[in-house]
Amino acid sequence: MVEAVEQIRAALRQQFLSDRLLGVTSLPVSIPPPAHRGRRGAPPRAVDAAANAERLRVLDETQVRGCRKCGLCETRTQTVFGQGNPAARLVFVGEAPGFDEDKQGLAFVGPAGQLLTRMIIAMGLSREEVYICNVVKCRPPENRTPLADEILSCSPYLREQLSVIQPELIVALGAPAAKTLLNTTQSIGKLRGQFHEFYLSGVTGDGPSIPVLPTYHPAYLLRSPEEKGKSWADLQMAMARLGLMPPQRDSGVSLGKA
Ligand code: URA
Repeated sequence: MVEAVEQIRAALRQQFLSDRLLGVTSLPVSIPPPAHRGRRGAPPRAVDAAANAERLRVLDETQVRGCRKCGLCETRTQTVFGQGNPAARLVFVGEAPGFDEDKQGLAFVGPAGQLLTRMIIAMGLSREEVYICNVVKCRPPENRTPLADEILSCSPYLREQLSVIQPELIVALGAPAAKTLLNTTQSIGKLRGQFHEFYLSGVTGDGPSIPVLPTYHPAYLLRSPEEKGKSWADLQMAMARLGLMPPQRDSGVSLGKA
């Protein structure tokens, strides 16, 4: 009996979370205290967060900030390296900085970033627990999609970031991120909803790899809110992979209207 009640509660909880991603705002759920969250059965990883932070700082300060490898250096206000937990289990990779990111020097702080924050919170995490960065570190003019040569110039920085952090999972946000990480031309519609592998060597099949789960970019979800359910299904796959529990109580967090 107790088991059946628990099963019903769990099913309702999942439904409320899914509804919330679809824009239902009247059933807020919450982030449980850290002790209730995450790492179900996963042994703690032996990672040196301070050493990772230092390696990332050196990469940013000695290579990325002064980078002039492509034309985007002419139009940027500043580079946007990425930010978050240097020992994150989960890394989100987007496309390129937009207007707000270029002004602030931080990844995903504009409207798409606000939706990403709500997605992260819906997963029972915080922005501080994950790492967030982009394939391209400079804003393309008018937010156009980065060109192939810009991605080629910039992707060694992303590869180095991921080599330092070595997350358990990468969520690729949108087509440019997924295609770059997976070295493929397949569409995001085909790639999403399945785990793939990112090879740290840059050569498919060669050496250690990190699982990648592609999903839709939050900017696309803002334009096509009817697709939020698919992204939420993807994020639930990510949560299951990481052994994360969904939030259990009222946080008052809303994902906004669908
Ligand atoms: N879109 C991205 O891909 N990255 C950002 O940082 C902001 C918007």
